[in-house]
Amino acid sequence: MRMVLVGAPGAGKGTQAKYVAEHFTIPAISTGDIFRANIADQTDLGKKAKRFMDAGDLVPDEVTIGIVRDRLAQPDTDPGFLLDGFPRTVPQAEELGNILDVMGTPLDVVLELKVDDDEVVRRLSGRRTCRNCGHVWHVEFDPPSNEGRCDECGGELFQRDDDMPDTIRRRLEVYAEQTAPLVGYYREAGLLRSIISEGAVDEITTRAIEALEHAVESQGDSQPADVS
Ligand code: AP5
Ligand code: MG
Repeated sequence: MRMVLVGAPGAGKGTQAKYVAEHFTIPAISTGDIFRANIADQTDLGKKAKRFMDAGDLVPDEVTIGIVRDRLAQPDTDPGFLLDGFPRTVPQAEELGNILDVMGTPLDVVLELKVDDDEVVRRLSGRRTCRNCGHVWHVEFDPPSNEGRCDECGGELFQRDDDMPDTIRRRLEVYAEQTAPLVGYYREAGLLRSIISEGAVDEITTRAIEALEHAVESQGDSQPADVS
């Protein structure tokens, strides 16, 4: 199962990626998480990515594509993978297509998570992430039992630098300008499924898994339908 999650900042890509990838026993690969790990380790890549991320802009395609190419060459992706936050531009999508063509392993499905902008702002302004295990919490919608501590591992929770109001607004603009065109791109390719990503997290997970399984079962049909 080779799949991509596409959706605005705060659509719940990271939250759902964890449960969906567990269900299909494949690795979830987030370019945002790879960049943040490099920033924490103060690598050259991290230094390069940080100024774009802090501004709410995209890291240049030539940097991002190389990272994904290397990651997809790792053997844990043999049974498949779930990409969260990549591709994010049409050139990235084209390059992903080329990489997978060479490997002889085309994408099976692209799942769009739909959510409105007001909900995005509510979600991102309350998000807290565990510094140790990466689990994502929300101060209001999914609070840990001890404020500032992760229930999963006891790690310290932090607020992302790009979850500040001005940067959230900029990220939404960037999404509309540069990433939203991917929805049409993948619809044309017959790979797109869309679900509403609002409501309880576990209900959205069920919806996502059903849409993905349905997409794979109906592969080869000429008219794949949205299930939203
Ligand atoms: P990235 O880390 O990918 O950020 P993003 O796309 O902006 O998305 P987020 O991680 O903010 O949101 P999410 O959809 O994962 O939501 P989450 O599940 O956390 O990228 C960061 C930056 O890196 C980019 O801006 C760019 O600079 C760079 N970058 C990354 N990839 C790149 C690429 N391919 N090319 C170029 N640059 C790239 O949920 C959010 C919150 O909502 C959480 O608190 C969660 O608990 C809560 N929540 C989730 N679901 C629900 C629900 N159903 N109800 C209530 N609350 C919910
Ligand atoms: Mg995320």
